[in-house]
Order: sequence, then C-alpha cells, then structure tokens
Amino acid sequence: MEIPFSKVDCSGNELKYVQEVLESGWLTSATKCLQLETCFADKVGSKYSLAVNSATSALHLALEAIGLGTGDKVFVPTMTFTASAEVIRYMGAVPVFLDIEYGSCLVSAAILENAIVQHSDIKAMILVHFGGQAAEMDEIIAICKKHSIKLIEDAAHAFPSRYGNRMVGSFGDVTCFSFYANKPMTTGEGGMLVTNDESIYERAKAMRFHGINRDIWDRFTVNREHWEYDVVAPGFKYNMSDVSAAIGLAQLERVDEFREGRQRCAEFYYTHLSHLRGIELPLYRGMFEDHSWHLFWIVLNNIFPMDRNTFIKRLNAMGIGTSLHYKPLHRMTYYRERYNLSPDNYPNAERHWCCAVSLPIYHTLNVDQLIYIVDAIQKMSQE
Ligand SMILES: Cc1ncc(COP(=O)(O)O)c(C=O)c1O
Repeated sequence: MEIPFSKVDCSGNELKYVQEVLESGWLTSATKCLQLETCFADKVGSKYSLAVNSATSALHLALEAIGLGTGDKVFVPTMTFTASAEVIRYMGAVPVFLDIEYGSCLVSAAILENAIVQHSDIKAMILVHFGGQAAEMDEIIAICKKHSIKLIEDAAHAFPSRYGNRMVGSFGDVTCFSFYANKPMTTGEGGMLVTNDESIYERAKAMRFHGINRDIWDRFTVNREHWEYDVVAPGFKYNMSDVSAAIGLAQLERVDEFREGRQRCAEFYYTHLSHLRGIELPLYRGMFEDHSWHLFWIVLNNIFPMDRNTFIKRLNAMGIGTSLHYKPLHRMTYYRERYNLSPDNYPNAERHWCCAVSLPIYHTLNVDQLIYIVDAIQKMSQE
C-alpha cells in the first residue's frame, strides 16, 4: 500500500471556477479575489480580509501595518516553521524565541507570563495555533493587552478552528492563514490576512500592492481615471491572482467536509494508538470539533523499542508517508548563531522534536489505510 503524507483534493468546483476566470479575461486580483475575501471573512467572523500570495506575505504585512520598528522585540515560538520568525527579520526587528508546552506544542499563558518577566520591552507576539488547535486565547489576549503587546496570530494550520464559541480569525489584532498546497484549504500558493481593525486593514491593503492607495479592480471599474492613484509607501507585490482565488472559492465550499474527515482520522488514531507502549499522543483541550486537525503527531518515548529515525524509515519502507513538525528554530544555523541560542533553554521543544513523527491525516484517507498505518505502528511497538 502507498499512503502519501498529504493529499490535495481539487475534485469540487475548482476547474469550473478557474475556467470562469480564464474566460473572463481578468486573471489577476478581481471579482474572484473579492468574493474569496468576503466568504472567508464571513466564515471566520472578521470584519476585514485581504487575499495575498502566502501566509508569509500576510505575516509580513501584519508586522508592517502594526508599525513594528527596527530593533523592536517580538515573541515567537521556537517550535514553528521559519516563516513565523523570518518576517520579524524582514522588519529589522528581533525575534525572542519561546519554548512551548509539551504535548500541545502551543505557547501557553504561563509560558508567556514567564517570558514577559525576563523581557519587559516586547512590542509584539506571533502566536502559532500549532497543528490546528487554538492557543489559550482569553488568557493570552488579556496578558497582551495588559503589557501593550500587539498580537499576531499565525493560523497557517488553524482553519477552520474554534476557541470557545468563536472562530480563530475573529479576535486578536491580525490573523494570518496559509493556502499553501498542503494546508487545510489551498490555492496552490496563497494566504489571507484578517483583522477587525480598520487602520491595519487600510495599511496592509495598500502595502499588499506596491503601496498604491487604489487596488487594480477599483482603478479599472470605478468611474474615475485609472491613472489617478498615489503611492503612499514603498509597498510589496503580495496580491493574489484570480486563478488562485477561484481554486480557493471551490476549496472553501468544502472546508467543513475536509475538517470532519481529518477529525475522523484523529479519532481513529486516538482510539488505536493510545494504549501502545512508548507512544505519546497530542494533547488537546476543548472539543474535538474545535480543532482543524491539520497535523497529527506521535512522540516515541524512551521505552519504545526503536529510535524515531529508524521508526520513520520502517514506516516509509512500508509505503507510509511521514513528516516532522518541526526541527525547532533554535537549532537552525541562522537563528542559533545570530541570537546565540542553546537547546538547554527549550526543553519542551527538544523533548518533542527529538522523538516526534507526523502521520498522514486527510479526509480521503480511508479506513483500510488507517488500519494499515496503526497495524504497522502496533507491531513495531511490540518488537
Ligand atoms: C506555522 C506556519 N506559519 C507560516 C507558514 C507559511 O505559509 P506560506 O507557505 O503560505 O507562506 C507555514 C507554512 O508551512 C507554517 O507552517
């Protein structure tokens, strides 16, 4: 059996909507982008949304729009993809890396409180909803407010995800989503910035397209000369094309179905792996239904009969795709050398990364494939 680690499903209205774009003569940011922005904002319950060409762009725009300055300090977890931290460097600002809570891989309110004691001069925080589970938003928002820390949510994994009765994307200063090919919904490459703050929206909107104060659609549809625009800052080229937005609209129609399918996989893994010797499963709070289940990892502890790398090789040899989220940023040459980081300061991230493996999780994974995966793991746990 061959089971890839992740699998995209574009069997809905993707082709139909892309064809509409190709036939319309407007390939770049136009009606499909506007429609995707409106539908996405409706889904997460935010006031404003901006379709962009990646979550990395969305994060960069967010930091620029909040007015982050050179040398400002920003909290970011060490257990994340480099995009969450590199955008801080784009701004000439300084990332301050935080350890995570073991089990959930989230930055908890307690970790944040502790870090503020050591760094009182933090301007902003990039909070990652790791794997698709929302962080402790009530507590974290309260702490950030108290210390005037701007909160930017990296929700690359967390769509659709809930915290209490609200969707991730409806609170915080800015939230950034990814539509990269392996994400909970895709546009090939793409992302979305959402906010309830009008001034952040206006600034990010202009900076998304060269710092121009009118977007392309407006310039060519509104009854005012299209050359009448101004450049208010040296902006970026981060807009999304309508071809991408067309794919996104079709994906958005099915995100709940995709999420339910992943939840079904997660439930299967909890049921069949939780009693196995030497295996630790992800910690989740709240309801199963609140989680986007973008990732499902297991951690092999020291009573598991083999080391993690051997385990991965054995699974791969059986045709089971795996991944690893993540080698933490304090171990990456650039961050380690520039900020003189030591693994001793990140014990939970170390404990996770040394022994974690991410398993396949997507809605088209069928019961036979799930049985094949858990059987393989069960057998290895008994060697
Ligand atoms: C946590 C996290 N943040 C940000 C990104 C960047 O997303 P994008 O590829 O859309 O720029 C990723 C991508 O994998 C991610 O996992």
